[in-house]
Amino acid sequence: MRILAIETSCDETAAAVVEDGRRILSSVVASQMATHGKYGGVVPELASREHLRAIVPVVRVALEQAGTGFDHLAAVAVTEGPGLVGSLLVGITYAKSICFARNLPLIGVNHIEGHIHAVILEASEAPVELPAVALVVSGGHTHLFEVREGFTYRLLGRTRDDAAGEAYDKVAKLLGFGYPGGPIIDQLAPHGDPRAVKFTLAHMKGNKLDFSFSGLKTAVLRWVEQRDLTAEIETRRNLQNPSMDDWLRWTPQPTLDMLASFQRTVIEELLRRAMASAEEIGAKALIISGGVASNAGLRARARAANSPCPVYFPTPALSTDNAVMIASAAFLKFRNGRFSDLTLSASANLSLA
Ligand code: KG4
Ligand code: ZN
Repeated sequence: MRILAIETSCDETAAAVVEDGRRILSSVVASQMATHGKYGGVVPELASREHLRAIVPVVRVALEQAGTGFDHLAAVAVTEGPGLVGSLLVGITYAKSICFARNLPLIGVNHIEGHIHAVILEASEAPVELPAVALVVSGGHTHLFEVREGFTYRLLGRTRDDAAGEAYDKVAKLLGFGYPGGPIIDQLAPHGDPRAVKFTLAHMKGNKLDFSFSGLKTAVLRWVEQRDLTAEIETRRNLQNPSMDDWLRWTPQPTLDMLASFQRTVIEELLRRAMASAEEIGAKALIISGGVASNAGLRARARAANSPCPVYFPTPALSTDNAVMIASAAFLKFRNGRFSDLTLSASANLSLA
C-alpha cells in the first residue's frame, strides 16, 4: 500500500513514497534556503515560484527512488494547510492533477498533524501510547495538543505572538546571522554561558499553557541596543557563505553568552509548559516535533528533565518539513476511508483541534 505524499506549505518542496504507513521508500526535500536567505525570512511570492519550478522534478525523483510509478500508488496525499496559500496551492493542484489523470484517491493532510505523525511512524516498533501531549514547535507554530485515542486532538495552549522558531530567526537576523537562525544559534549556544544574561520567563494571564516569545525578543533587542555591536554585526552580515567556524570566529564571548542564555530561556518556556500539560492530562507520552525539535539543547534538556512520561522526538531529518510525515498521517486516513475530493483547496489557517 504505497502513498505518494506532497508537502509545499512553506519553503521546502517535498515528496515521499511510504509503504504501509511505515516503510520509507523515498523522501526528497528541495530547500529554498538559497532564495530566501538573503531576505532573512521566507518571501511568499518567491516561495510559490520556487515550488512551481521544483514540484514536477521533486515528485519524479521521489517515484524513481522508490522504484515505483503512478500506477502502483494506492493514493496521493497532500498538505492542505496551515501554511502560505500560494505555496500550498502548488502542491494541492499538482496532487489533484495526478489523482484526476490516474483515477487515484486524494487525501488532504493538516501540516501540524504531519509533524505529530513523523514521531508515530518512527516509533512503529514500540508504539507511542495515547493519550499523549504533542508540542509542535516550528517557524510557524508553537502549539500544545492533547492527542487522544483514534488521533483526535484538543488544543491545550499556543503562542500568543511569535512561534519559537520565528523568535530564533528574528534574533539571528538582528545579530547579522544567516537564515534560518535556529540551527546557527543552536550550534553556537554550547560556546556561551547560558546563565550569563538573566532573561525573565513569560507570565501568562488566562491560559497558563499558552506561550509568548515577544518579551524575550524585545529583551534581546534591548541587550543589543545597550552595547555598540554595529561593527560586529556588520562583519557577520558581510561574510560570504559562512561556515559554522566562521560564525564562531566572528562572534565575541558576550554575544555567545547572550545566545546561550536566549536558547536556555526558550527551552525553559517550552519544556515547563509541555511537562505541566502532560502532568495535567495524565499523558502516557510527550511528543516534541517540528523544526525546533531538532534543537540539540532542547533534546538534551527534555531527556534530563523530570518528565512525567516518556519523551519522543523525530530524527532530525523528520523534524523539519518533509513529505514522509504527510504520508504517515495520510495512512491513518486511508485506513479510515477519509478521502478528499477534487474540490480540496488551500487553507492557510487550517486548525487541528
Ligand atoms: O518545521 P519547519 O521546517 O518549518 C515550519 O513549518 O515552520 O521549521 C523551521 C523552523 C525555523 O524557524 C528554524 O529556525 C527552526 O525551525 N529550527 C531550529 C533548529 N532547526 C530548525 N530552531 C532551533 N534549533 C534548531 N536546531
Ligand atoms: Zn512545519
